[in-house]
Amino acid sequence: MHIIHFSAECYPAAKVGGLADVVGSLPKYLNQSGEQCEAVIPKYDNVWMGHHDFELVFEHAFSMNYERVLFTVQRLKDHDLGYPLYVIDIPGRFDRPGIYIDPWSGHGYWDEFERFLSFQIAALEWLKSRKKNPGVVHCHDHHTGLIPFMMTQCNRFRKLSNIPSVMTVHTAEYHGEYPIDNYKLMPAFHIDNIGLLDWDGKLNSLASGLKNAWKITTVSESYMEELAENSNGLELLFKQESDKSAGILNGIDAEVWDPQTDDLLDVNFSFKNRQKGKRANKEKLCQQFNLDPDLPLISFIGRLVREKGADLLPDLFKNFIYSEKEVNFVLLGTGDPQLHQIFSNMKSNHMGYFDATLEYNEKLAHQIYGGSDFILMPSRVEPCGLNQMFAMCYGTVPIVRAVGGLKDTVKDIDEDEGYGITFSEFSLQAASNALQRAVDLYYNKEQFHQIRKEIMKLDFSWKRSTQEYVKMYKSLKPE
Ligand code: GLC
Repeated sequence: MHIIHFSAECYPAAKVGGLADVVGSLPKYLNQSGEQCEAVIPKYDNVWMGHHDFELVFEHAFSMNYERVLFTVQRLKDHDLGYPLYVIDIPGRFDRPGIYIDPWSGHGYWDEFERFLSFQIAALEWLKSRKKNPGVVHCHDHHTGLIPFMMTQCNRFRKLSNIPSVMTVHTAEYHGEYPIDNYKLMPAFHIDNIGLLDWDGKLNSLASGLKNAWKITTVSESYMEELAENSNGLELLFKQESDKSAGILNGIDAEVWDPQTDDLLDVNFSFKNRQKGKRANKEKLCQQFNLDPDLPLISFIGRLVREKGADLLPDLFKNFIYSEKEVNFVLLGTGDPQLHQIFSNMKSNHMGYFDATLEYNEKLAHQIYGGSDFILMPSRVEPCGLNQMFAMCYGTVPIVRAVGGLKDTVKDIDEDEGYGITFSEFSLQAASNALQRAVDLYYNKEQFHQIRKEIMKLDFSWKRSTQEYVKMYKSLKPE
């Protein structure tokens, strides 16, 4: 089946978070199982795009209110990602380095609506021009949430109105919510149907995607259930649409995340020589950050935002640093500027115990998975979470709050055949207890080694989930 994925991110071309990892690997594994996927993202002015060649496949223009928007669709040349990658170049909107946020000011771009609307219109103009319609249009998160509406409601795209569409929710924290009058920038549709764009009096891109797509999926089963209780105002809508909704757990790209072949690691290691390999990577990492490799090393990697529980970390780390128990902490990520300030201060005040790298750094992320004993994910909300899976492949034990996909992928060591440390309540006390249990586990060498062995044997590859996607795609039959 021919499936076309639309997204704002796709690894390695453009990445902010897990959305990129999924859009960058799901099409490859679907293709390996016999489907024909393509991925389409905007052409940002970033380093990766600058270092790769593209060939022109389509050139066109459309009107967005009074503005004439010129765009080209280009296809990645000489670089095999396992699926064709197309980028849409829209000068004036996407020839900027940031995906959502201007790296110089730290603020979101002022024209977010115009940017992603122009991308979505251009994508449909191009689809419309192609000889054959795809079998499924698969949209990811709110940046592509208006596509199902435009396909079914805008006269301009009538040719596309019978194509089944899927809306995958990687996070419902962000909705792409704008004043309702913004509909005037969209291609013409019957105004009686404006309710299909609206939620709570606003033009809500994610809500519109949920209402208009043939199928809604999210990235774990537990998150699907949680959305009906907590989705930033869309609870009722998720309840209403539950009959066409399903949770499909993400996988990870087992070709990228393999400690035996990963060339971003300092020392490669296999399941067989895991003890030596982990120790060598830990020593390198500790040397880099001036830490003691004999102490337990607990790391956090991720966006420094509320959903990820990043605001809990300063007090949590300090509690341990000031206590008798010696623990080392490493943090990598970017986000809330206030947290940047707090972590920079902590870095100078607690040298030898804590280090923070406040940037996006893919290589360091791999080194941290390779060299840490534990990975900490105290998320308030976690649709799936990939870091716990990456960590486990590298023999690093997850300490997670049992929520969303974390609940579906990590089983506590106190349970039968458990292999991680989980806690339920979002509180400093509950997270501290979990950390304490991790430290105890670290010093119980026999159990610790056994658990490392268990987690490295687990299979988080896309194999299982791609089959579920294929089944779902096949269930969508155009009239
Ligand atoms: C978002 C979610 C994360 C999920 C990822 C990929 O980043 O926050 O939990 O794993 O999308 O679906």
